[in-house]
Amino acid sequence: MGEKPRKLLVLYASQTGNALDAAERIGREAERRGCSASIVSTDEFDSSSLPHEEAVVFVVSTTGQGDSPDSFKAFWRFLLQRNLGNCWLQRVRYAVFGLGDSGYQKYNFVAKKLDKRLSDLGATTIIEKGLGDDQHPSGYEGTLDPWMLSLWSTLYQINPKYFPKGPDVKISQDEVIDQPKYRILYHKREKLDPNLLAESDIIQRARGMSPGKLFKEKSKPDCFLKMTRNEVLTKAGSTKDVRHFEFQFVSSTIEYEVGDVVELLPSQNSSSIDAFIERCDLDPESFITVGPRETENNGVNEEMITELPIKLKTFIELTMDVTSASPRRYFFEVMSFYATAEHEKERLLYFASPEGRDDLYNYNQKERRSILEVLEDFPSVQIPFEWLVQLVPPLKARAFSISSSLLAHPAQVHLTVSIVSWITPYKRTRKGLCSSWLASLTPEQG
Ligand SMILES: Cc1cc2nc3c(=O)[nH]c(=O)nc-3n(C[C@H](O)[C@H](O)[C@H](O)COP(=O)(O)OP(=O)(O)OC[C@H]3O[C@@H](n4cnc5c(N)ncnc54)[C@H](O)[C@@H]3O)c2cc1C
Ligand SMILES: Cc1cc2nc3c(=O)[nH]c(=O)nc-3n(C[C@H](O)[C@H](O)[C@H](O)COP(=O)(O)O)c2cc1C
Repeated sequence: MGEKPRKLLVLYASQTGNALDAAERIGREAERRGCSASIVSTDEFDSSSLPHEEAVVFVVSTTGQGDSPDSFKAFWRFLLQRNLGNCWLQRVRYAVFGLGDSGYQKYNFVAKKLDKRLSDLGATTIIEKGLGDDQHPSGYEGTLDPWMLSLWSTLYQINPKYFPKGPDVKISQDEVIDQPKYRILYHKREKLDPNLLAESDIIQRARGMSPGKLFKEKSKPDCFLKMTRNEVLTKAGSTKDVRHFEFQFVSSTIEYEVGDVVELLPSQNSSSIDAFIERCDLDPESFITVGPRETENNGVNEEMITELPIKLKTFIELTMDVTSASPRRYFFEVMSFYATAEHEKERLLYFASPEGRDDLYNYNQKERRSILEVLEDFPSVQIPFEWLVQLVPPLKARAFSISSSLLAHPAQVHLTVSIVSWITPYKRTRKGLCSSWLASLTPEQG
């Protein structure tokens, strides 16, 4: 008796954001059951303190050909040190959830090797590792849902203090949904420095403020390119559209080798951005800064938000994928809270429930429904901008292998790109955001 309630540490390593989503979901579900949880990336965690943790959930993806995410590498090097010994983690209980794709030869390789190493270092597993698979009809969530239920009940059996009211008693939705993680400050235009209005460094400013943490961990150089050639390589009438693109460096030339990867930030359709802004009743001309919401634990105040204000429309264009990526399940849950029409609320709650997972998959992921389309399907929902900033998928840069050499083509970059387009089960034509945007550009216009 008199023992303190237990805490859970969720350590994640993600390359493109899925493991972060999964880690946040695990943290959220634990907190709803009364167990507080910290969610930390492996590169922000002091690895030497791992033996002092009581229960740790690892959420790690596999990338490349069985490689670990960049944010995992230093943590993994630390764990591999020989001097740690097989009792180093003897007081630690752990569970591993991996994200992978069984189409790859080294399926969930990182989760498997982490699980083995933790066990070799003396840690005790809470439940058998879970392996999320992109090939599963419901994606990694198909495995995550049942895996989490088993995690909660086993933790409860180990020590009921994890869930004082039992592993199945959940805090009501209303208490959770009034707490977005971000807050928006609106700035008076008259008080702004005119230099800000000129919008220099606009991409860095917008993306530096965005909750999409992944933007910040990139240490690669940024540059501007101007398209100088857009040539179709495939024959007329072919079902495929593959193109040769040539670009000229606008800013100073960045050194590269043939086969290096360039990441391009796609541009979203301007009229769709306007439609989203109108649908969400936002003022496109307002100037904003985005920062973490003040909580008991992090006393954020206005002075601590150092970023320079940016126009709301620009922020959306550069950081929020409203026209191409599909929302996560949590978006439907938050939408259900704000739905004022009863039938919409009911439908959204069903989508957000474990029973509705397959129908949500067919409606949302399989159809590649965008945020804008989903919002249009549920007209009674009006979500505060803070929630949209948190939940709209971050606009991601796309990788392309460089097919030119600086020796042959100084100050140029050439790419060979397959323009993505497909028909969904409901016979809707979908287009890849970045490749179709590139295909639409006219070199003469820059
Ligand atoms: C290291 C690396 C190097 C790359 N190099 C190149 C390169 O040199 N050339 C090149 O063309 N691409 C390359 N790619 C792929 C490229 O990054 C993009 O993924 C691709 O261009 C599509 O981006 P998009 O924005 O047009 O499509 P998105 O808007 O991102 O849509 C693509 C997504 O649509 C869905 N989708 C696509 N087709 C279908 C279908 N038939 N059925 C159902 N869903 C579907 C899938 O979920 C897919 O992930 C590379 C990727 C990586 C990781
Ligand atoms: C370029 C690339 C390489 C991948 N390589 C592997 C792999 O070797 N093994 C595997 O199981 N999954 C692989 N995957 C699938 C990812 O692990 C899966 O999509 C996962 O959800 C990504 O999680 P993340 O967004 O947290 O990085 C790969 C995905 C990409 C885009």
